Amino acid sequence: MGKDVIIACDFPSRESTLEFLEKFKDEKPFVKIGMELYYSEGPQIVRDIKKRGHKIFLDLKLHDIPNTVRKSMAVLSKLDVDICNLHAAGTSEMMKAALEGLTREDGTRPLLIAVTQLTSTSQEAMQRDLLINEPIDNVVMHYAKVAKEAGLDGVVCSPLEAKKVHSEVGRDFLTVTPGVRFADSDVGDQKRVMTPAQAKIEGSDYIVVGRPITAAQDPVEAYRRCVKDFVD
Ligand code: C5P
Repeated sequence: MGKDVIIACDFPSRESTLEFLEKFKDEKPFVKIGMELYYSEGPQIVRDIKKRGHKIFLDLKLHDIPNTVRKSMAVLSKLDVDICNLHAAGTSEMMKAALEGLTREDGTRPLLIAVTQLTSTSQEAMQRDLLINEPIDNVVMHYAKVAKEAGLDGVVCSPLEAKKVHSEVGRDFLTVTPGVRFADSDVGDQKRVMTPAQAKIEGSDYIVVGRPITAAQDPVEAYRRCVKDFVD
């Protein structure tokens, strides 16, 4: 899979999600389905969106004992999504179990990427609550390396970290980066943001874009602008 723009479909219901996707007549964007939509609508929403021809990143961030993650990933793999994810904090053993569960009988599987430290976790909270005393950047890079060694395909990270991940972990290790804003759009609650064009320069493989597209007056135009700046 090459560079692409993934739209974060952070909608509360099936109805609002499908109404949004119906605006796209000429293209089938790659979409991200997160916990909110999945927990409210269940696996059928994934099947329905897949049936409409979209690629899907199912963002459920699994983190449990290896056996549970293996069996749960086997269930998600049957949904035929394109990308799944988990928390690298579940350790290498959990990540390897996840890959086993995801791999279908014919050897194919969705891509599997890891969340390192959530961008909502500060250095201070990591030290105080998790008793991790390393600088957060080192923790992110270390988790990325452990994920790579476990056989994963990439990480979710800030576009500001994409270049470093590629140089330290490998150019073919995918960086999937949220925190993207147009230069002239609202930053909202995101703190460290980049434009699609900057993310391209930093070497992001996929940008995950929510509100700059979903809340735009013309979402199709906003999506095309992202594709033009990031992919073309
Ligand atoms: O609307 P916005 O473009 O901020 O949406 C970004 C999407 O990426 C949301 O679904 C958000 O949960 C997700 N995300 C993020 N930062 C992370 C991980 C995921 O913004 N570190």
